[in-house]
Amino acid sequence: MEKLFIEGGHKLEGTIEVSGAKNSAVALIPATILADSPVTIDHLPHISDVGILSELLEEIGGTTKLEGDTLTVDPDGMFPMPLPNGRVKKLRASYYFMGAMLGKFKKAVIGLPGGCNLGPRPIDQHIKGFEALGAKVTNEQGAIYLQADELVGANIYLDVVSVGATINIMLAAAKAKGTTTIENAAKEPEIIDVATLLTNMGAVIKGAGTNVIRIEGVDSLQGCRHTIIPDRIEAGSYMIMAAAVGKRVEIDNVIPLHLESLISKLREMNIDIETRDDSVVISNGRTEKMPVDVKTLVYPGFATDLQQPFTSLLTEANGPSIVTDTIYGSRFKHTDELRRMGAAIKVEGQSALISGNARLQGASVKATDLRAGAALVVAGLMAEGVTEISGVEHIDRGYAFLEEKLRKVGANIWREGSATSDKAEQEQH
Ligand code: EPU
Repeated sequence: MEKLFIEGGHKLEGTIEVSGAKNSAVALIPATILADSPVTIDHLPHISDVGILSELLEEIGGTTKLEGDTLTVDPDGMFPMPLPNGRVKKLRASYYFMGAMLGKFKKAVIGLPGGCNLGPRPIDQHIKGFEALGAKVTNEQGAIYLQADELVGANIYLDVVSVGATINIMLAAAKAKGTTTIENAAKEPEIIDVATLLTNMGAVIKGAGTNVIRIEGVDSLQGCRHTIIPDRIEAGSYMIMAAAVGKRVEIDNVIPLHLESLISKLREMNIDIETRDDSVVISNGRTEKMPVDVKTLVYPGFATDLQQPFTSLLTEANGPSIVTDTIYGSRFKHTDELRRMGAAIKVEGQSALISGNARLQGASVKATDLRAGAALVVAGLMAEGVTEISGVEHIDRGYAFLEEKLRKVGANIWREGSATSDKAEQEQH
C-alpha cells in the first residue's frame, strides 16, 4: 500500500504550476466519441482518471495516443459496446459515456458510476434529460440501458443545478434533431470548456456559463484541437496550502476569476493575495488568521471541492468558524482524521463547527476521498512532526505530481510503498 509522508512546519516559497482541470478533462475525453475524425486535447492533467477514461475509449473500439499531456483520440472504429462493469465503475465521470454514446450511437449500456463517496449522488436529472430527448432509459442490475430511435431537441428544466447533468445533456443534444434548451443549468467553468470543445467540433451551443443553455443539433461533428482550462480546484488547494504555511507562493496558470469566492474568504482571514493575469501570489507575512464562516454553493459560490482543504486551514484560525456544505451535506469524513491530528471540530447536520486555535500534530490518517486527501495534505504541512497519509489512490485521482510540485516550493513530502496492492484493492470496490 502506498502512503504519503509529510514533515510539517516547512515554509513554502516559490512557484507552483497548475495542471489542466480534472473535471473538464473527464468530460472532454468522453466527448471525443461524438466526433467523426481525430480530436486532440492539450494540457491534460497527469491523473489516474485520465488513464481510465482513455482505456474505456479503447474498449469501445477507439484509438488513443497519450504523449506527455496531449491526448489524441481517433473515434474511427468506435461502436456502442456495452460497458456494464469493470473500469466504468471506478470513477463517477464515466457517466459522460451515457450522453456521448447516446448522442453518437443512439444507445449505450453503462454501469452505474463509482467515484468519491460523498453521500447520495443520484443521476436522476441526467436521466430526466435523456428521456426528454426521446431515449428509453432503464436500470438493470446496476447498469443504465439507454436507447432511442432518434433524439429530438426538448426543453429541459433541471430540478437540481447539476454540473454532470448539464454536461451530459449537452453531449446527447449536440447531435439531436432541433433545439434543446437546458434551464436552471449549472454555470461552472468546466461547462464552458466542454461547450467550447463541442463548438470547435461543429456543434451550435449558446449560453454555456449562464443558467440557460441552447443547443441546436447538427448532423455530424468533426475532430479539432482543444486546450483544457486550468484546474481551479487544484489551484485553490495550493492557495490554501500557501495560506497555511507559505511565505510567498505564486500559483501559476490560474484564471483568478474562477477563484473569486476563495480569494475573498482568504482575504477575510487576513491573507494577502495579489491577482495577476494568469496567476495569484499569496504572501503570508501576518501571523493572525481570522476565523470565517463558509457556505458552499454552486458556481460562482464557494466550491464544495474546496470546503475540505479549507476546513484544515480554519483549525488554526484564532477563533471559531462554521463550514456548511449545501451541495454534499455529508462531505465531512476528513473531520474525523483532522481530530486525530488535534483539531477540535464538531459536525452537526450539514455543518462543521471548527473551534480554531489548534496546534496540529502529525498522525497516521486516511484519505477517504479525493478532497479529504487534499485536506490532510494541508493539515500535514501545518502539523508538528510527521503525518502519514494512506488512501493515496484517492489523491492521485485529482492532483498531478503533488509531491514534486510541493517539494519544489520547500515542502518535505515523500511517498513510500507500492501502488500494486492499491490498484487491486480499488478493483474490488
Ligand atoms: N444531484 C441530484 N441529481 C442529479 C445530479 C446531481 O440530486 O441527477 C445533486 C447531487 O447529489 C448534489 C448536487 O446535485 O447534491 C450537485 O451535484 P452535481 O451533479 O453538480 O455533481 P457532479 O456533476 O456529480 C461535479 C464534480 C464534483 C463536484 C460537483 C459539485 C465532476 C466529475 N465532479 O460532480 O467534483 O463536487 O460537481 O461542484 O465534475 C471533485 O472534484 O472532488 C468532485 C467530487
